[in-house]
Amino acid sequence: MQQFKYDIKCDTLSPEQEFYKESYVLLEGAIIEVISRLDIIRKYKSIEQQEDPIEHCKARIKSAKSMKEKLKRKKLPITAESALREIHDAAGIRVICTFLDDIYWIANMLRNQKDIKIINEKDYIKNPKPNGYRSYHMILQVPIHLENRVEMVYCELQIRTIAMDCWASLEHQLKYKKNIESEKMIAGELKRCSDEIASTDLNFQTIRDMIKQI
Ligand code: GTP
Ligand code: MG
Repeated sequence: MQQFKYDIKCDTLSPEQEFYKESYVLLEGAIIEVISRLDIIRKYKSIEQQEDPIEHCKARIKSAKSMKEKLKRKKLPITAESALREIHDAAGIRVICTFLDDIYWIANMLRNQKDIKIINEKDYIKNPKPNGYRSYHMILQVPIHLENRVEMVYCELQIRTIAMDCWASLEHQLKYKKNIESEKMIAGELKRCSDEIASTDLNFQTIRDMIKQI
C-alpha cells in the first residue's frame, strides 16, 4: 500500500525557530546526521551479530529560553551566532543502551567516523559525579553540507544504560524542588541507588558475556 504523504504548514514560527533563525536548520541537520549514522550501524550490527546496541534515542534542540539563560550566564552575546559557535549543547542526543559495553562500542564507532570531529569526552561512568550521576558524554562536530560550504556543527551526546537514564530523570526532578526538608535524605537515597545500579549494570554485562560464550 502506498504511503499517504502530507505536509503540515505552520503559519507562526516556534520561539526556537525565531531565535536560532537559519541556524535551526543546522542544529536539526546535526541531529539527523548523527541519528542516521547511529541507526545504520545499529541495524547492521543487529543483523550481523543478532545484537542491538541501542534501546532508543532521544534528541532535542535546546529551548530558546534555556539557551538565552545559558548565554547570559556565560556573558556571551544573546544571538543565534554565539549559540551555534560558543555553546556545545544546542543540539543534544541521548542514546540509551541495554548493556555497559554497548556504550563504549557506540563511542568508539563514532570516533572511527573520520569526518566527525571529537571535541571532548567525559566518562562519568568510570568517574561518576559526587551525586551519583553516571553517563558517557561526547561533544562532536558534525559536517553539514550546504550549497557551497560545509558547516561543522556542535552536538552533545549522552550515552547511558536504561538504569542510568531512570536515575538521571529522577535526580533531575529533585533539582526543581528547592529548599525541601527531605532533600538531604533523598540525595543520600539517590546516591545509594546509583551505586546499586552501577553494580547491577556490571552484573548484567557479566551475565550477557556468559550467555554469549555458550
Ligand atoms: P553544561 O551543559 O554547560 O552544564 O556543561 P558541563 O560542562 O557542566 O557539562 P556536563 O557534561 O557536566 O553536563 C552536561 C549535561 O549532562 C547536563 O546538561 C545534563 O543534561 C547532564 N548532567 C550532567 N550532570 C548531571 C547530573 O548531576 N544530573 C543529571 N540528571 N543530569 C546531569
Ligand atoms: Mg547542557
